[in-house]
Amino acid sequence: MKNKTNPLWGGRFKQKSSELLKKINNSISFDYKLASQDLRVSKAYCKALCKSKIISKKEETLIVDCLKTIENDILEKKLKLNEDFEDIHMNIEMELKKRIGTTAGKLHTGRSRNDQVATDLKLWIKEKTLFILNLLENLQKVLVKKSEENIFTIMPGFTHLQNAQPISLAHYFMAFFEMFERDKGRFFDMINRLDECPLGSGALAGTNFSKIDRKYLAKSLGFRKPTENSLDSVSDRDYAIEFLSNLSILAVHFSRIAEDFIIWCSNEFSFIKFSDLHCTGSSIMPQKKNPDAVELVRSKASRVFGNLLSLLTTLKGLPMTYSKDLQEDKEPVFDSFDTMEIVIIIMTELLKELVINKAKMLKSSNNGYSTATDIADWLVQNTELTFRDAHHKTGKIVLLAEQKGCNLDELDITDFKKIEPQINNQIFGYIGIKNSVKNKSSYGGTGFKKIKEAIQRAKKKIKK
Ligand code: ARG
Repeated sequence: MKNKTNPLWGGRFKQKSSELLKKINNSISFDYKLASQDLRVSKAYCKALCKSKIISKKEETLIVDCLKTIENDILEKKLKLNEDFEDIHMNIEMELKKRIGTTAGKLHTGRSRNDQVATDLKLWIKEKTLFILNLLENLQKVLVKKSEENIFTIMPGFTHLQNAQPISLAHYFMAFFEMFERDKGRFFDMINRLDECPLGSGALAGTNFSKIDRKYLAKSLGFRKPTENSLDSVSDRDYAIEFLSNLSILAVHFSRIAEDFIIWCSNEFSFIKFSDLHCTGSSIMPQKKNPDAVELVRSKASRVFGNLLSLLTTLKGLPMTYSKDLQEDKEPVFDSFDTMEIVIIIMTELLKELVINKAKMLKSSNNGYSTATDIADWLVQNTELTFRDAHHKTGKIVLLAEQKGCNLDELDITDFKKIEPQINNQIFGYIGIKNSVKNKSSYGGTGFKKIKEAIQRAKKKIKK
């Protein structure tokens, strides 16, 4: 009888669990990823138990030393995790019992898997977030480098995917620098909110062991402070939702840069080429070189959004406090992290290797009457016309160029004068592509000088 029931909670059970229950209930196949956090939490908890004299120094040493050997064996893949013991917490406790006997049974005094798992997951998210922040900073460095190399690379800037105004390619890259900077900010904010330790909250109500020093526990695990409310501690997963939400916003940014690159590498655009490292061929069309890497970066966003929605839905309407539904928090979190880790790394590599067709970009930036706004602005700055009137007259100039089948800078001065007699030869200095970019000298604009300044500011941000 004794062997049949669960060794951790089998006291009130007469029968052992069904195989089906094991299948739906077991989480060890994925929560093994929390092993190192769980061991860290247990070591800290054991020390707190000793500090409050619930266990002796000798017992503390026995348990902590054994946890270290377990850690080592897990690292060296010597420890086989057992499907019979539900999750990582039970696996580790059972292994401890196997190695040191009954003293192992003291470790869970005043502790529940509910406060334990919340602490483990917070530690895991914190650690992985620091890793992501590092990856993002590397990517930002590449963006800055690429920007420095391309201050004078002129490309069409688009709105509605229609040629709008010429811009510097550096300005484009720096736009993503800013987005990733805000992404980093969101992760920092998340860490700040998450940084409270749930351990010592027990199953839900707090514990009878008031001597267990929760401030000490929090500090020894690197948290700013203990959580304030035990019910909140074991029931909420807002930090995991925030993590998934931040990863989703990050994924949006990557999907946009990916989409641009997919368009830019098409034959029709030919703005960029990817190195062979990041392309695949076709099984039938020998000429093909497909941008699979960026296409996947574009679509990975959808699964990351899915994970966010999955966890939001798990939490929605869940009665307080802990329910087993919360075990479903882990896979979305692990999957989104794994997904975005590779996305950041591959995009960093891809950017480094990117081949830029500067001539094609420059040529295209002159299409679509992209300096028409510069004509309107010239009229405002050099005549009494209001912007609305200047806009209207410039519209007529564009129409004329369209009828003549030429670009704006190919029009004759007499063409301009027909529409607005006040226009003089100065206009040609204004509507050239390079000058158009140069003149965007507002703060944050694409003007060459402004980009150089933006790059300097960016460098300071990533130096820290
Ligand atoms: N594996 C469980 C989880 O991830 C641990 C907590 C179990 N708690 C419980 N009351 N059954 O949520």
